[in-house]
Amino acid sequence: MKTIKDQDCTIYAGEGSLSQLQGEVARYLAAEPDATCVVLCEQAAAKKIFPVLLRACPSLRRCKRYFLPATEAQKHIETLLPLWKQWADDKLDRKTLVINLGGGVLCDMGGFAASLFKRGLPFINIPTTLLAMADASAGGKTAVDLGEIKNILGSFNRPRAVFVDPVFLKTLPAREMLSGMAEILKMQCICRTDFSVQRAEKIFTDPEYLNEALLFAIKNKALITQQDFKEENIRKTLNFGHTFGHAFEALALRKKHPISHGEAVAHGMVCELYLSCRKCGFTRARFESFARLINARYGSFTYTEKDIPALLNYMVNDKKNKGRKIYPVLLSDWGKCVFDKAVFPLVIEKTLHDNTKKNGRYNA
Ligand SMILES: NC(=O)c1ccc[n+]([C@@H]2O[C@H](COP(=O)([O-])OP(=O)(O)OC[C@H]3O[C@@H](n4cnc5c(N)ncnc54)[C@H](O)[C@@H]3O)[C@@H](O)[C@H]2O)c1
Repeated sequence: MKTIKDQDCTIYAGEGSLSQLQGEVARYLAAEPDATCVVLCEQAAAKKIFPVLLRACPSLRRCKRYFLPATEAQKHIETLLPLWKQWADDKLDRKTLVINLGGGVLCDMGGFAASLFKRGLPFINIPTTLLAMADASAGGKTAVDLGEIKNILGSFNRPRAVFVDPVFLKTLPAREMLSGMAEILKMQCICRTDFSVQRAEKIFTDPEYLNEALLFAIKNKALITQQDFKEENIRKTLNFGHTFGHAFEALALRKKHPISHGEAVAHGMVCELYLSCRKCGFTRARFESFARLINARYGSFTYTEKDIPALLNYMVNDKKNKGRKIYPVLLSDWGKCVFDKAVFPLVIEKTLHDNTKKNGRYNA
């Protein structure tokens, strides 16, 4: 097990890390003698993940528990209203420690719920999907969507601790594993100047390498968020693949054929590298070998010409923009991000058109 510090948040990562939770909770309750602790668990996966938590931390049996419907379609403030009402009825106070248990949606929503209730309760994240382990559970961004606009309501608020234990991955469906692998791949693209597509393939084929790459992602995210917590500078690089990716995710949700966050980011990275070739001198050969990897692992994300205005509209509304210009993260080379380059909507539109011509297969 490894311990990684992100300012005042401790991330326990690796097999057996969940066994540290009992001690963490006991230390908190000893320091705050009148405090209590509650568990907020994702509803859909509760039967799989809640017993794992109780086995590792039997003292939590005595805690109040809440089950939140936390799918992407329910990632709205309305879903939290009954929960906050229940917390108020149950007299949770500012010292109540909230333990969030679930995937990235639950971590985002639970962190947001805790941040706002009585102006802020302390919380711990226990991610149960690969994507939440690699990315969503740490770094202190909490969020819900507003209508179709992703993560537009939120706060910067670090958890006290994060427990990344692969024990939860035993029940995770293959498609969700693939989703998490996309965020792990993203960290390699933006942080490794020695990135190679050949080595990155091992994320999908070699469990030992996947573990290593997961740890790499956690460590590097912590390094980046320590330098720039409020996303004014280098933290923007973590959005690589997300300008297009969020638009693809929102469109798929609107069409009632949702794709996972990671799948959306995978296709988003391809589009942003395509733009990088045009705008930042990223080499065509590197782009093509990366696109082949994504097409082989994630297929293609297809949409028609008619969808382009909606996709553009999602991107124009992206919270990272200034005015009507769009700021995707581009790469001049592996590990070298360009994050403050404005791209006009017309150029984005052209990229989307080029993509439809190739049916989502840039390398075709
Ligand atoms: N805050 C951040 O910095 C940040 C970073 C990246 C992504 N995100 C957010 O994360 C969200 C995506 O998270 P996600 O990919 O974890 O999706 P998710 O939370 O929807 O979980 C995916 C699916 O896995 C199921 N599940 C969870 N744990 C399981 C387990 N152990 N066994 C079996 N099934 C399990 C869930 O029920 C769900 O159906 C998005 O909303 C995205 O915006 C946030």
